[in-house]
Amino acid sequence: MSKRWFQAHQRDTWRRQARSKGYRARSAFKLKQIQEKFTLIREGDLILDVGSHPGGWTQVSVEETGPNGLVIGIDLLASAPIEGAQMVIGDVTETTSQELILDLLQAGTKVDGTSLPPVGADETRLFNTIVSDISPRLTGQYDRDQAISLELVAMVFDFTMPLLVPGGSFVTKIFQGTGIEGVVNAAKQRFSRVQRFSPEASRNSSSEVFLVCKNKLPRPKKGSRGTSVAQELNTHLESEGIIQHKDSVPIDSVKSGFRRIPKKE
Ligand SMILES: C[S@@+](CC[C@H](N)C(=O)[O-])C[C@H]1O[C@@H](n2cnc3c(N)ncnc32)[C@H](O)[C@@H]1O
Repeated sequence: MSKRWFQAHQRDTWRRQARSKGYRARSAFKLKQIQEKFTLIREGDLILDVGSHPGGWTQVSVEETGPNGLVIGIDLLASAPIEGAQMVIGDVTETTSQELILDLLQAGTKVDGTSLPPVGADETRLFNTIVSDISPRLTGQYDRDQAISLELVAMVFDFTMPLLVPGGSFVTKIFQGTGIEGVVNAAKQRFSRVQRFSPEASRNSSSEVFLVCKNKLPRPKKGSRGTSVAQELNTHLESEGIIQHKDSVPIDSVKSGFRRIPKKE
């Protein structure tokens, strides 16, 4: 039995199960398995699903939070409606999408269609849980895809952290490889518990892994105050000799993938 055949067979099995249980994507089982192990979502949670199309994770989020929760999904692509969830079409890294998400969150329409109690004029409602299965359009060139994905994950962190309540949970897909430690270290500065997890539904099928972060700290640890995850990733890549300082050599990692640059003598 070839490895490729086995992987395809595994994917088909999860796909069939998804279809039989009414999920839109086999990826729904990845979030279910993450939830089983880490209980990221609790009843009544306000949840943001980043990279939500076609909606498997959104379906699971609605199930787990129940009628008193709130679920907002965002993706570049439009998805068919999911009862109880609000879907935003847009790029999560763009200000207009971010504003739209904030507006929906403040409006506070719950899964059951009723409204959360209003927040005071000087208060901002925040999410309890943020789940992200975001993935760039893959080219098949692993180094390039992994580099783009890592930058995207760093951007998702930077956009979503201010929207997450202290004590809240965050999970993101991340591709194994160069620079991953930069993001893992940055996460450890912001959460008390950070763990990599490979759910059974994604094992054998790709090099993706999920970074599960629990208990967001009220503020980042000392070394990370005033910096962003994207900056910390860049610093890590520079220190590893993977990119040079952006003032000296502009590296367009999105186009090329990260390349290890030999350290100067
Ligand atoms: C693996 S799919 C998500 C599958 C989804 N979790 C599910 O269960 O149905 C990854 C998604 O990330 C989305 N994506 C990639 N870049 C994005 C961006 N900048 N903003 C919003 N969504 C993005 C893609 O459009 C794609 O639909």
